[in-house]
Amino acid sequence: GRKIYMSRHGESMYNLDGKLGGDSDLSPRGRLYAQMLPGIIKEKLDGKEMVVWTSTLKRTIQTSEHLPYSKLHRKALDELDAGVCDGLTYEQVEEKYPEDFARRDEDKFNYRYRGGESYRDVVHRLEPIIMDLERQEDVLIIGHQAIIRCLYGFFMNYNQDELPYIKIPLHTLIELTPKAYSCEEKFYKADI
Ligand code: F6P
Repeated sequence: GRKIYMSRHGESMYNLDGKLGGDSDLSPRGRLYAQMLPGIIKEKLDGKEMVVWTSTLKRTIQTSEHLPYSKLHRKALDELDAGVCDGLTYEQVEEKYPEDFARRDEDKFNYRYRGGESYRDVVHRLEPIIMDLERQEDVLIIGHQAIIRCLYGFFMNYNQDELPYIKIPLHTLIELTPKAYSCEEKFYKADI
């Protein structure tokens, strides 16, 4: 049957510094993942064609760089907008905006960053992506932590309030095979 592949981008410079958001480049390890990804996916595809969707941010585009398929860069796949907290670490957010930090902890799905987005906003913005996915042949989405949580959680029937806590490891290709009510899932971790 047809398959939906998804992956977070390779490790970024901001991931290394523990900073939120931004538009940083991949780290050396992240670039290694980008180099390994074509081999990992080719094995699964067995000669079939595929399309790749990335966000408009450098780290997902760089992760797709070596993939020999047609690519689309979609703004709807950009990471959850952390607004005034963009570029800060969690420690700095707690220091500068202690009340917001606590509110997010209480209701992470609904908490909207000042000048930014909530998970609820992201779920809404992903609706056209999900619509397109319903009538799409094999596709690989290279996204971000919050984005992959929402997409994966949608296809695996998670409750909304669980979405912000789903563990999506770095450097791992997720393969979903749609079935009647849910999806069969496989995780392929790159050996980096
Ligand atoms: O740390 C990487 C990152 O993608 C940030 O850019 C983003 O703000 C965060 O993860 C989302 O995860 P959480 O909702 O758990 O803070």
